[in-house]
Amino acid sequence: MILKPLAVGILSAAFLSTVSCFAQAPQKYHPTLESLDRHPLPQWYDGAKLGIFIHWGLYSVPGWAPINHPDHDFSSADYIRYNPYAEWYLNVLRVPGSPTAEYHKQHYGEQGYYDFAPTFNRESKKWNPDKMAAIFRDAGARYVVLTSKHHEGFTLWPSTTPNPTPSLKPSQLHAERDIVGELTTAVQNQGLKMGLYYSGGYDWTFNTGPIETDKDYDAVKPQSEAYGKYAFAQIHELIDRYHPAVLWNDIDWPKTGNALQVEADYYNAIPDGVIDDRFGIKHSDFTSPEYEKKDQISEKKWEECRGLGRSFGYNRAEGEKETIAPGELIALLVDIVSKNGNLLLDVGPEADGTIPPVQMERLKALGEWLKQNGEAIYDTTPWTKATGKSAEGDDLRFTKKGNDLYVTVLGKPKAQTITITDLPAKNGIAITQVGDNSDLGAKDQANGMRIALRGTPKGDYAYAFKLADYAR
Ligand code: GLC
Repeated sequence: MILKPLAVGILSAAFLSTVSCFAQAPQKYHPTLESLDRHPLPQWYDGAKLGIFIHWGLYSVPGWAPINHPDHDFSSADYIRYNPYAEWYLNVLRVPGSPTAEYHKQHYGEQGYYDFAPTFNRESKKWNPDKMAAIFRDAGARYVVLTSKHHEGFTLWPSTTPNPTPSLKPSQLHAERDIVGELTTAVQNQGLKMGLYYSGGYDWTFNTGPIETDKDYDAVKPQSEAYGKYAFAQIHELIDRYHPAVLWNDIDWPKTGNALQVEADYYNAIPDGVIDDRFGIKHSDFTSPEYEKKDQISEKKWEECRGLGRSFGYNRAEGEKETIAPGELIALLVDIVSKNGNLLLDVGPEADGTIPPVQMERLKALGEWLKQNGEAIYDTTPWTKATGKSAEGDDLRFTKKGNDLYVTVLGKPKAQTITITDLPAKNGIAITQVGDNSDLGAKDQANGMRIALRGTPKGDYAYAFKLADYAR
């Protein structure tokens, strides 16, 4: 489900770089918007730029969703039947005659969805959390967010809050391994922050739906006292046991579950943690657009989430064609960062924790690119402008760190010079390609700054240049 795009505005660089330093953190947070809004955006999150999202659950066993729907339009009438999100398998299975219902009949006959639990448990025994965490580190991510409970209601930790659903056994509702705990340890051992996703708005063990049209999105949110208490208790289990650095709630929060109290309790337990904007109240550290692009710098910190393909959960039907190309992925990250965003890039592991090869390839390309060019990405702030074009036709993005300005060319430079008329000429500026220290010098600056390349620039996909002290 997609959120409405939020208002964006251009900000002065001065405001962007000072906002997090001047906000004063209170001693103790109270369950009011006024108190929560005093939470300063932590530097670690602002500077991290890349996180990895993991959607892993019972839906990873069938791991399937249709891929042939022509577009990704959430408002089209038959969107749900052709929902490309494989983690929605259970909902679409409940829609009579849907492609998922057909697929299920063919492959699993009369077997119920929660009967995937034993297979999930058997397969996930093969998973190696340290190996997975090392993959995310090598991809250049600085944080990870795991689905602790998706809409299906199955938890990846041994929750002790009883679920009142009469027809399901506890063994169908919880993973045998403490996946949340094991991954938290492994990720932290790699020096990354660990965050948790929780589906507060939907729990299909409480309200089975299904959602068939966009009119059902709200009706299917459980609002009973029992569910409010359940969600409140579960999210407190997560906070107390795992201290997540990101509390990433999805869809909404039950009115009976006291969102203000949850957020105050979270900040009091983890003062440098961050909260997304899907708790149904007007406080958040960042907004969470999904498969959306922004055309300007946003004053409010934002985090774009999307899968490498068109699904968050593993979809075995997806291949090369449905998966973002490495060059596009790198351009996307640079674009987001230039506009004050982070990218929360999703992987959908198979039931045994394997990341599909087509996704692995993208993670590798991204990691290699960041190894060379990370200086133009991590810990930067937006400059006064995010985008530009060179006189030679290159597509440019700007970022800034201290007094240094970074210009990234998306794709291979079109010529041996990159003339940036948007940048007033300044003399004596040292220009280097990021990750390669030989001084390129700036020549003939009558038309703005001109970078003169020597031979072929090092690397692939996108080329970052540093204009030392240009932004002073
Ligand atoms: C949506 C979807 C969901 C996905 C999430 C990620 O709300 O319902 O499947 O987990 O967004 O942003």
